[in-house]
Amino acid sequence: MKALICEAFGPYKSHQVKDVPAPAMKPGHVRVAVRAAGVNFPDILIVEGKYQFKPPFPFIPGAEAAGVVTEVGEGASGFALGDKVFFGSIHGCFATEIVVPAASLFKMPEGMSFETAAAINLVYGTSWHALKDRAQLKAGETLFVLGAAGGVGLAAVELGKAVGAKVIAGASSAEKLAVCREHGADMVINYAEEDIKEKVRELSGGGVDVVYDPVGDKLAEPAFRSLGWEGRYLVVGFAGGEIPKLPLNLTLLKSADVRGVFWGQWIARNPEKHRQNVSEFLKFWEEGKINPRISSSHRLEDFVKAYDDIAERRAMGKVVLTME
Ligand SMILES: NC(=O)c1ccc[n+]([C@@H]2O[C@H](COP(=O)([O-])OP(=O)(O)OC[C@H]3O[C@@H](n4cnc5c(N)ncnc54)[C@H](OP(=O)(O)O)[C@@H]3O)[C@@H](O)[C@H]2O)c1
Repeated sequence: MKALICEAFGPYKSHQVKDVPAPAMKPGHVRVAVRAAGVNFPDILIVEGKYQFKPPFPFIPGAEAAGVVTEVGEGASGFALGDKVFFGSIHGCFATEIVVPAASLFKMPEGMSFETAAAINLVYGTSWHALKDRAQLKAGETLFVLGAAGGVGLAAVELGKAVGAKVIAGASSAEKLAVCREHGADMVINYAEEDIKEKVRELSGGGVDVVYDPVGDKLAEPAFRSLGWEGRYLVVGFAGGEIPKLPLNLTLLKSADVRGVFWGQWIARNPEKHRQNVSEFLKFWEEGKINPRISSSHRLEDFVKAYDDIAERRAMGKVVLTME
């Protein structure tokens, strides 16, 4: 099979797609011919040795994919040859084949493309867990999303609208904000030019109920200051680079909460709740309430272009790799 192989940590451009032996079958597992895989911010960090988790060498990066079942292992139930499936995996998805636990698979809904199925699990899974389980976002509340044209950000914009919240999208360019509007944002702020605290408080009429922050860095404190009374601040990621520090008196002044979001750990601890969440966002998809945006699609061999789209901050929605 073909796979992007990481044999030692180094700049992502230094890695290569190679012919390698297909993985061995295991009990309770299923072999999938991968058709498309979603590329995410951590896929860069993991091959450069900058991610919190460091797999043993050699490893194949890629944390989500969609494809067709080609072999069902002993004791694996619920799936048959030819089923179209999507799934998350710790790594191993940037390959033409993968062997994954049957319990981690979801059947693709009728009419969904492989690219969309490869792009849906991680960002909608993260953002739905964040907004539903961690923030308890309700209809009529106001949500402010940072990095709102990025992968998890655009999913948060759509999911916020799906539950009936008012959504303010924050991003760094007019082009990105136009995409946020297309995906349902009610109001927008260009934080490369405008003051976050002032503008968001003005747009929300005094402060938002929930901030969704996958960027951190210098944006975090002004975003926290844009919260209203009993607001909830979701710590999702640090795409901006620096892990921000927050003066704790700010939480006291508004009776506000800082709430961490660690979707991967939450799934490991709550597999059934995760399956429930996936069924809920698939229903949103069937109802037309969410519409994953494919920003760019590249062949596996062109993975550097896919990584560039994310590293150079061009992606609007999801970047995917296709295997044929
Ligand atoms: N907590 C969890 O469970 C969880 C799950 C999934 C992902 N994450 C994290 O969430 C973050 C975003 O992931 P993503 O897949 O949405 O990434 P993405 O598609 O690359 O989006 C990140 C956004 O961050 C903004 N940004 C600001 N400074 C940046 C910089 N120096 N480089 C790149 N982007 C920058 C960009 O928007 P502007 O240009 O508009 O500012 C960009 O659209 C990552 O840190 C990821 O690890 C966390």
